[in-house]
Amino acid sequence: MKIRHLFLLCLIAISATLSANGKTVIPITTDDISLIYKVDDKNGRLYQSYLGQKLSFDSDIVQLPLGNEAYLTHGMEDYFEPAIRVLHNDGNPSLLLKYISHENKQLQPGVDETVILLKDDKYPVEVKLHFIAYPKENIIKEYAEISHQEKKPVTLYNYASSLLHLNGSKYFLTEFAGDWAHEVNMKETELAFGKKILDTKLGSRANMFCSPFFLLALDRKAEENAGDVLFGTIGWTGNYRFTFEVDNENGLRVLSGINPYASEYSLKPNEVFRTPEFIFTYSTEGKGKASRDFQRWARKYQLKDGEKSRMTLLNNWEATYFDFNEDKLVNIMDEAVALGVDMFLLDDGWFANKYPRSSDHQGLGDWEETVTKLPNGIGKLVKEATDRGIKFGLWIEPEMVNPKSELYEKHKDWVIHLPNRDEYYFRNQMVLDLTNPKVQDYVYGVVDNLMTKYPGIAYFKWDCNSPITNIYSPYLKDQQSHLYIEYVRGLYNVLERIKQKYPNLPMMLCSGGGGRCDYEALKYFTEFWPSDNTDAVERIFIQWGYSYFFPAKSMAAHVTSWGKQPVKFRTDVASMCKLGFDIRIHEMSQTDQQYCKEAVANFKRLDDVILDGDQYRLQSPYESQHAAVMYANDNADKAVLFAFDIHPRYAESIQPLRLQGLKEDARYELKEINLVPGTQSRLACNGKTFSGEFLMNVGIPVFSSRPTNSHVIEITEVK
Ligand code: DGJ
Repeated sequence: MKIRHLFLLCLIAISATLSANGKTVIPITTDDISLIYKVDDKNGRLYQSYLGQKLSFDSDIVQLPLGNEAYLTHGMEDYFEPAIRVLHNDGNPSLLLKYISHENKQLQPGVDETVILLKDDKYPVEVKLHFIAYPKENIIKEYAEISHQEKKPVTLYNYASSLLHLNGSKYFLTEFAGDWAHEVNMKETELAFGKKILDTKLGSRANMFCSPFFLLALDRKAEENAGDVLFGTIGWTGNYRFTFEVDNENGLRVLSGINPYASEYSLKPNEVFRTPEFIFTYSTEGKGKASRDFQRWARKYQLKDGEKSRMTLLNNWEATYFDFNEDKLVNIMDEAVALGVDMFLLDDGWFANKYPRSSDHQGLGDWEETVTKLPNGIGKLVKEATDRGIKFGLWIEPEMVNPKSELYEKHKDWVIHLPNRDEYYFRNQMVLDLTNPKVQDYVYGVVDNLMTKYPGIAYFKWDCNSPITNIYSPYLKDQQSHLYIEYVRGLYNVLERIKQKYPNLPMMLCSGGGGRCDYEALKYFTEFWPSDNTDAVERIFIQWGYSYFFPAKSMAAHVTSWGKQPVKFRTDVASMCKLGFDIRIHEMSQTDQQYCKEAVANFKRLDDVILDGDQYRLQSPYESQHAAVMYANDNADKAVLFAFDIHPRYAESIQPLRLQGLKEDARYELKEINLVPGTQSRLACNGKTFSGEFLMNVGIPVFSSRPTNSHVIEITEVK
């Protein structure tokens, strides 16, 4: 067995190393893309020769020009932004990296790794560039390991995860920025000479303004089904930076990594500084394919329990805010049962006694049940849920503290704060110092104690409402520039311990809405909360934005009273992702209650298509007053279409909607579902059968001039 593995390994190594006129060629390939490096035999340095559609012929690859130096350093002849900047023991600030060797191996079936070793020829500093390729999903991850054997620590000022070079006639960057309750607004701009930076220095609630992903179209603006586009994201739950720099020859370099702002890193001899992973794909068929590749990869390899099912739920946050007691919660559980969802999720406001959590001004950090509110504790609630045949989930925010809390009174040294200044509060709270191992134990203990006491808890919603403010770690003392990095490492230590002890515990990642949504965190979380804004019209845009990188399964979407659209519209929007409710069901009309019940049943019946299928964005809300998204399963014998009229204009010309992802020669029956009880479908196509060819080329009329109107259509192959 071992010999077979060895043989396989060698085979991969040989097939991935070509030689052209004495130049070593290192191709990193997937089914559809190639990233090709070459070593210049004259100077021994590493160059990126190519990134784009897969090149299949070695005879072509060897003819590619050398390209641009791969992992550019500070201090030599390059004039633009470097990937790495190091200050040596003797005060020399330069680095010159030469290729030493590379190796390829299979990490697991379907996952290949190439590691390229580079070393400085004057100083004992080395950089290992790791590339992990997922051939079938066309995803490549890149990260660097930096180490040295100088006598004393060297200082790292820049330490990118990745530097990619692109050559196009034009570059169009789409960023996803916003703020609380209006996350991921897509904006596309053409890049010109110079730099454009997307970054954050918010620390914990890192993505509050700017999401850690981008897409970059070459030559022309990004299109859904055509054109070259690079999709990139960083797996780092903290400060990140993407730098896009167009140089004097119109070349573009894209540098991705931790934001080095206020974070120079003192690297000890033999310590390995491992950067986070930059994860990317390149599509020559536009954005839709790139998204489907990302979504498929995430479900299979990155998202926690990405291939397992998800629970529908009823949450009490918007239904009660802090105003609840045991009876009220038990009543809401009854509503959850009537609705047919799998779980009741208790949100903020259940804890603290000296300073009960009756508002967001106090109590954070004191994780015991408020006796006056919940005299029988969480145990009673778990039992009430279990007796009703549903699961029980619980909200926590374990990285934070209100100054008005017993935790703060006892352990001010555990709080990130400046010792000699007044404190500044974001949402009346502060961030615990996760660089401190004792604080890590405490944060881990919040989950562990609850799980030990109440093993019936089936789910956590893990919130994080404040960025890091008052930026000083009492633990790090004279190494304050490590704070942002060590905070994230501390968080991962905690999450890893939780995952080890409770491998099957699903958790939602939440950060005052979508303030955290990166793929390293999502190794530990089954889903995330995209936004506190649950207005259904806004949610169409928000879910649309996140869909470029994340599968529907990873996005929690709740029906609430925030928007005043019809309940059907709100529920249909939420049914495009992981469906939940956060509303008093008994306050709805009988018809709406009945509608919601049927919608939950339909969602559960079709969740393998919606949550695990391929997603096709058919009609953009950014380009029209309508939106449509469809999901098709692997065999394309079942699909679900969601179509929305948002605010149609008077007398606008309404065109049929062309579907995607079906089999041209198969016949499909269309059935409108999620109909309001007592109403009939208004769609002419309802109940009819069409070929895939017809549906994808002629299309079906699903849009109307009625505002906030929606249709859900189940599409089934007739065999
Ligand atoms: C912010 C979250 O985004 C909300 O869903 C809710 O859990 C509140 N925090 C509770 O304080």
